[in-house]
Amino acid sequence: MYPDYLAGYVKQVERTRPKRLELALTGEPVFPPMTAAEREDVLTKYHPDYSKGAKRPVRVGPNKGEEMTTEVAVLMEAHSMIRPKLLELGLREPDYETDLLIIGGGGAGCWAAITAARQGVKSLIATKLRIGDANTMMSEGGMQAAVSRTDSPTRHYLDAMGGGHFENDPALVRVLTEDAPEVVRELENLGVIWDKEPDGSMQVLHGGGTSRKRMVSCRDYIGAVIMRTLMDEVRNHPDLISIREFEPAVELILDENGHCAGAVLYSLDTEQFLIVRAKATIIATGGFGRLHIRGFATTNHYGATGDGLVMAYRAGAKLKFMDSVQYHPTGAVFPEQIAGFLITEKIRGAGGQPLNRFGELFVFPREPRDVESAAIIRECSHDRNNGIDTYVGRTGVWLDSPIIDMIHGEGYIRRQFPGMCRQFSRFGIDITKEPMLIYPSLHYQNGGIAINERCETSIPGLYVAGEASGGVHGRNRLMGNSVLDYNVFGRRAGHYATEYARTAKLGRLSLEHIAEHARALKREGIDTDMISPLILPSYTPEDVKIQQLARLGNIPAMHSMLRSRFTPEERRTRP
Ligand code: SIN
Repeated sequence: MYPDYLAGYVKQVERTRPKRLELALTGEPVFPPMTAAEREDVLTKYHPDYSKGAKRPVRVGPNKGEEMTTEVAVLMEAHSMIRPKLLELGLREPDYETDLLIIGGGGAGCWAAITAARQGVKSLIATKLRIGDANTMMSEGGMQAAVSRTDSPTRHYLDAMGGGHFENDPALVRVLTEDAPEVVRELENLGVIWDKEPDGSMQVLHGGGTSRKRMVSCRDYIGAVIMRTLMDEVRNHPDLISIREFEPAVELILDENGHCAGAVLYSLDTEQFLIVRAKATIIATGGFGRLHIRGFATTNHYGATGDGLVMAYRAGAKLKFMDSVQYHPTGAVFPEQIAGFLITEKIRGAGGQPLNRFGELFVFPREPRDVESAAIIRECSHDRNNGIDTYVGRTGVWLDSPIIDMIHGEGYIRRQFPGMCRQFSRFGIDITKEPMLIYPSLHYQNGGIAINERCETSIPGLYVAGEASGGVHGRNRLMGNSVLDYNVFGRRAGHYATEYARTAKLGRLSLEHIAEHARALKREGIDTDMISPLILPSYTPEDVKIQQLARLGNIPAMHSMLRSRFTPEERRTRP
């Protein structure tokens, strides 16, 4: 039940539903899909990537002079936690030695470790929180894979390229789409229970921007199912895979020849720095939703602070598409307790319709994500004023879910979306009878560290897999291609890093790149109190931070709780 002030708007949805249902049952588009020119127009006018102050040139590092999302540029220009001299790497014995160091304990990291173990190679997974605390766990709706008779990897390839505005790296998209059917089989062999049709074939649904039904699913909690399966398999190899939890990596270590040779970890328990010496290193640190870019709420897990980007960049790896951010069209707006929470695109794939305050459709429900989000922002903007305001100052539009049962038959929503039903029922809202109030939520890091099909970066011995990498999705990822991405590239990274580690010879360990970064900040006259990686998001209000700093006698605070997100200059110029 919605409070009275929203219940009146729900009536509008009910009023227009019979006509909308009639149209949906014909199988025709319920609203005209946009032309290419209309898409371009709505993106440039309303997508947050195009808003004032959204991007600026970064002043140091391999992408110097190129535009990056402002919040990301700030991280790239921040200080390291490490004082290289104090660690005296040349003299110190490493705390851990391993063949592969895998930074991150989500889907990509687990797959890399499993693949290495299958080849008899030892790995160490170092993760910031617990294994499985990752965006992998947060995914709901499904994974794209061309498994139906009417589909093919080529069609999948074309859809992914189109979704990414044809800026994706074609070689990466090719392996993404060609490996997909095998990933489905592999996951099933490991224990994933896919949704199936009564004849035993895979159940497939549409996502935004897909020309064929291609979304395979596990109800609406695919992330939890895959993550559990991969964690189980990791724990099946205790002799070959060791796990360090609450020990995030904070800097990479190179050797004297510029090859990656491991990382410095920071124990969140003891606040000690620990040295890992590794023949090959894989970054699988996921995305950056907890940077709350442009002030947006996020669908991401608590640790998603873009740490891998910072470490790789400082070590000299090039980043790609760092001016592009994905906002999921349907994040929860009400109730306030779950603001930003992911409402899966599978809801629109099954027939759910976005509606304005008059209960009217204003966009085709399955436009590519960036376009759909921009159209929702336009509907709520001052130009149209067709959003619904909540008492705490959020605005959203409706996502009509009850219409799904009317299209597919009663009970469909409860069968396909048990997670979503439960989440809303905790707040007394029955989504089989009432719509959900939604607005775009910061969801995905479209860009990342540049890799090739072997997951290699420009630094020998450094590999990247999953959301931390850039290139496969261009400037806009389609639904279900991230779940596929970490599965495909996690396996590949494990395989190729294993091959490399078999013959790698490491020279003297060095943190000279950190010292060089400090010199570059000085040369560019960058005056900042930021330290990165952030490790954990700071939700401490600015006035409290100032009091904390005052108590510490203005010593540059080392703890992330005390870090400000913007330089004084950026605070002044932010819109
Ligand atoms: C969703 O279920 O809509 C999220 C999955 C994804 O981002 O691909």
